[in-house]
Amino acid sequence: MNNTNTVHAIRWENQQLRLLDQRVLPHETVYLTFDDVNAVAEAIRDMVVRGAPAIGITAAYGIVLAARARFSESTSHWKALLEKDLQTLAQSRPTAVNLFWAIEQMRRLIVELNGDPEPVLLAEAMKIHEDDIAACRRMGELGAALIEKPCNILTHCNAGALATGGYGTALGVVRAGFASGKITHVYADETRPWLQGARLTAWEMVQENIPVTLQAEGAAAHLMKLGKIDWVIVGSDRIAANGDVANKIGTYGLAVLARHHGVKFMVAAPASTVDMNIRCGEDIPIEQRSADEVLFLAGQPIAAEGAAAWNPAFDVTPASLVDAIVTERGVVLEPNTIKLALMMESVRI
Ligand code: MRU
Repeated sequence: MNNTNTVHAIRWENQQLRLLDQRVLPHETVYLTFDDVNAVAEAIRDMVVRGAPAIGITAAYGIVLAARARFSESTSHWKALLEKDLQTLAQSRPTAVNLFWAIEQMRRLIVELNGDPEPVLLAEAMKIHEDDIAACRRMGELGAALIEKPCNILTHCNAGALATGGYGTALGVVRAGFASGKITHVYADETRPWLQGARLTAWEMVQENIPVTLQAEGAAAHLMKLGKIDWVIVGSDRIAANGDVANKIGTYGLAVLARHHGVKFMVAAPASTVDMNIRCGEDIPIEQRSADEVLFLAGQPIAAEGAAAWNPAFDVTPASLVDAIVTERGVVLEPNTIKLALMMESVRI
């Protein structure tokens, strides 16, 4: 696999899938090994691996493992048996469309296959992985080019190398922007309840000596009011055909704050995150996660006993609050249905 940065969330080694366990970062760097598709689906659900593009890539490798097992079970009926595994993977997390996109890419090949499916499916999974890294690099260039002067940016959740094949979407823009002197400082929301910002984004930035300051997300309004932020840059789990953007819970609030304070709002995501079958954000399924993620921290109860908790994992930012959507196919300013359709139809730049 292309060695484009220091962080590798997903590896294919010795005919097995290896995932960097993001539940225990940054204090422990542990790779878990998988050769069973049910365990891969469980790892996606449990957020061993997370982030929309990384979930899709993981599912593609999971299908390679599943096809191997089903072909050894029955060389004549493996395709029918495999269908159950595709369903299991599809049920692991509902919001990131990259999961369903990757399953469809693999399914299209499976329909055509004769003989041992593993070599062909593995080549496809590796291509999905490598294409994602290349897309991130391109988004990095395109996103950084939108920034006019050296500035501070604010990001939310983790849309970095850990959340993708490598390099990152929002953090790809940060990497490219830092390298070209356009971005001087990164403010990162800690991102309750799972702390992707505190644990993962801060870790990625520190690894690359990019200055990073963490904050509770409640500090964002004050930070913007003080004039410290020029751009908010985030990733996405699904972009509807009209440009509405689903991303980690709290993103919508940041977009409202950004517009109020005259701060620009950029979304960086590969074309595989754009769901042209979903008309607008209201139709995007929003994952509800366990209340325990809010009520407990590192296994310790932190809330008053008896309190309930509401834990939607994502929210939807309306297109009207988005200044730019950056994909590897190009940049859409002030997105709407027509502009997104044109971008999606365009050949890759
Ligand atoms: O629940 P997570 O950690 O999977 O949520 C991830 C996000 O919301 C990311 O911002 C998004 O997937 C973009 S990742 C390049």
